[in-house]
Amino acid sequence: MAFRTALRRVAAVNVPATRGLAGAGAAAARRAYATTQLTHPDPTEDSASGKMVREHAPYMVTTYSRPPPVFVKGKGSYLWDLEDRKYLDFTSGIAVNSLGHCDEEFSKIIAEQAQELVHASNLYYNPWTGALSKLLVESTKASGGMHDASSVFICNSGSEANEAGIKFARKVGKVLDPSGNKVEIVSFQNAFHGRTMGSLSATPNPKYQAPFAPMVPGFKVGTYNDIASIDSLVTEKTCSVIVEPIQGEGGVMPATEEFLVALAKRCRDVGALLHYDEIQCGMARTGTFWAHSSLPKEAHPDILTTAKALGNGFPIGATIVNEHVASKIKVGDHGTTFGGNPLACRLAHYIVGRLADGKLQEGVKAKSEVFLQGFEKLRAKFPELIKEVRGKGLILGLQLSEDPTPVIKAARERGLLVITAGTNTLRFVPSLLVSEQEIEEGLRILEGSFEAVMVKA
Ligand SMILES: Cc1ncc(COP(=O)(O)O)c(C=O)c1O
Repeated sequence: MAFRTALRRVAAVNVPATRGLAGAGAAAARRAYATTQLTHPDPTEDSASGKMVREHAPYMVTTYSRPPPVFVKGKGSYLWDLEDRKYLDFTSGIAVNSLGHCDEEFSKIIAEQAQELVHASNLYYNPWTGALSKLLVESTKASGGMHDASSVFICNSGSEANEAGIKFARKVGKVLDPSGNKVEIVSFQNAFHGRTMGSLSATPNPKYQAPFAPMVPGFKVGTYNDIASIDSLVTEKTCSVIVEPIQGEGGVMPATEEFLVALAKRCRDVGALLHYDEIQCGMARTGTFWAHSSLPKEAHPDILTTAKALGNGFPIGATIVNEHVASKIKVGDHGTTFGGNPLACRLAHYIVGRLADGKLQEGVKAKSEVFLQGFEKLRAKFPELIKEVRGKGLILGLQLSEDPTPVIKAARERGLLVITAGTNTLRFVPSLLVSEQEIEEGLRILEGSFEAVMVKA
C-alpha cells in the first residue's frame, strides 16, 4: 500500500517529460530519473551467467535462493559479475569483508603463507595461532572491552565459535555443580547464533529449528531488552546466557545498556557465565573494537565470540574466555582439525591489527553519520515506507513497512547490493573502509530504487 501511495508523489519526477523543466528542479528531476534506470538488469537465461547457473545449480544442495548474477571479482567496496558489470557492495559478504574485497596486504599474506605453511594440525605449535590469540586478548583489553580476557580457542566459523562457548559453559556448570543441575543455557527471541545443533538450539527461530527438531535439551528463551523478566529467566540452574549486543540477523536490534548491565549482574548473582556473541557486531563494526567496549566493566562477558570480519573472507572463528572459564577446560575437552591453522591465523593477525586501529574506528563513526543523514532524508521522502532507522556505526537497518525484496532487486539492477534482516528490515553492513562518495552513490541508487519500486506497484 505504502509503495503505491507514495508513488503518486514521486511519479512526476520519474518520467522523461521532466526534461522540460528548468533550473535546480530540473537537475533534481533528471537525477531522479537517471537513478531509476536499469543499469544492471539481472542476467538473462541465455547470458554467460545464466548458462553457468543452469549447469552448476543442479549439483548444489539448495540451501540458498540466489539472484542471477555470478560474482567473479572484488576490490574494495565493489564486486564484478561475469558480465563484467561493477556493483557497489553494501553487504560485504554479510559483515565479513570489513577491509573491503581483496585488500592488497591480505592477498599478499595469503600468497606468502601458502608457500610457507598452511596446516600442520593442532598436535604441534606454529608461530601464528598463539600470536593471534595474544593479539586478540591484548587488543580486547586495550579497547576497553572484556577486561579479564585471558585465552582464546580458534576455530573456523561463527557457529563453531559459539558451539565452543556453549560447550565450555556446560563444562563450567558441571564443575561448579557436579550434580548436573547447572546446565541451562539462556538465549533471546530473534537471536541468531548459528546452524550447528548447539548454536541452533540457542537460535529460537522456528524456520531454522523446526525441520531439525528435537533441539539440544536445556535451552531457554527470554525476551530481548526485557529487564523485568531477567530474574525468572536466569536462575541457579543457568550455566550461561548467550546474547548479541546488537542482533544482526534479527533485524539490527541493539540491546540497551541497562539490559546488558542487569543481565550481567544477574549472571554474577547466580554464578552463570555471560557470553557475548559479537560475530556480526564486533571487530570495529560499531566504531569501537567490540560493540561492548563502550559498556561499564561490570557488564563485560566471560565468553566472547567472533568470526566473520576476523578473516575478512577467509574462514576463521574465535572464542575468547577469561581465566574462570579457561581454568575448567582440560586437554581433550574440545578440538578441531583445521581451527588455528597458520594461514588463517596469520591473516587474522593482520586483520585484527588493522581493525583495532582507533583511526579506522573513528572513520566508521564518521561514515555512519553520512549514512544516517541520508537515511533521514529518505525517511522524510518515503514516510509510509521507512518506519525506523536503527543500529550503530556501520551495522545499520531501515525498518520498512513492507517486504524489502522488491527494493533489493531494484537496487541490484541499478548496481547496488543490499540485504535484509529480521522482519522487513533493510540491512547495511558495508566495508568499514567505504568512502563517503561511495556512501553517497549508494544512497542515490537506493533512492532511485525506492522510486522505481513504487512506480511498478
Ligand atoms: C551473531 C551471529 N552469530 C553466529 C553466526 C553464525 O556464523 P557462521 O555463519 O560463520 O557459522 C552469525 C552469522 O550470521 C551471526 O550473525
